[in-house]
Amino acid sequence: MSGIPTLREPQQVVEETGKIQTDRRGLLKGLFAFLGSLVLGSFFYGLYRFMAPGAGTHPPVEVPLGELAPGTAYSLQYGGSPGILIREEDGGLLALSLVCTHLACTVVWNPEKREFHCPCHDALFDAQGHVLSGPPPAPLERWKVEMKGDRVLVGGA
Ligand code: FES
Repeated sequence: MSGIPTLREPQQVVEETGKIQTDRRGLLKGLFAFLGSLVLGSFFYGLYRFMAPGAGTHPPVEVPLGELAPGTAYSLQYGGSPGILIREEDGGLLALSLVCTHLACTVVWNPEKREFHCPCHDALFDAQGHVLSGPPPAPLERWKVEMKGDRVLVGGA
């Protein structure tokens, strides 16, 4: 009687069902093991990055000295943060982060008044980044400046 499905023995059905469940269970175990290894890997990589020497530092930004006439400023990005490199009239160089130390708004350099203004809570910083007024608890972050030939390197370790 071909074409008519045959009835299986109950034990055979249970074995097939058990095999399917085992396969699902194995798949879930593998999936959880994979996800667990991702989580652990992320944790230990983050721990390594936190504890490794030089962690948190970024390669310095190069600015050609020729682009910095005395009394001018150069906008730059260092480590993902906006910053400014100021060349004083006497040739002195100063690099500051433009991230306000209150709630991280971007401050604006006013070359005429020689001060930084934070528009978020109306704070003022002097040309050296010190707080003149407003709620910021600390001066603007100062970045390392180094001369290398005709280039200025900003930031770095
Ligand atoms: S964020 Fe700059 S003063 Fe508040």
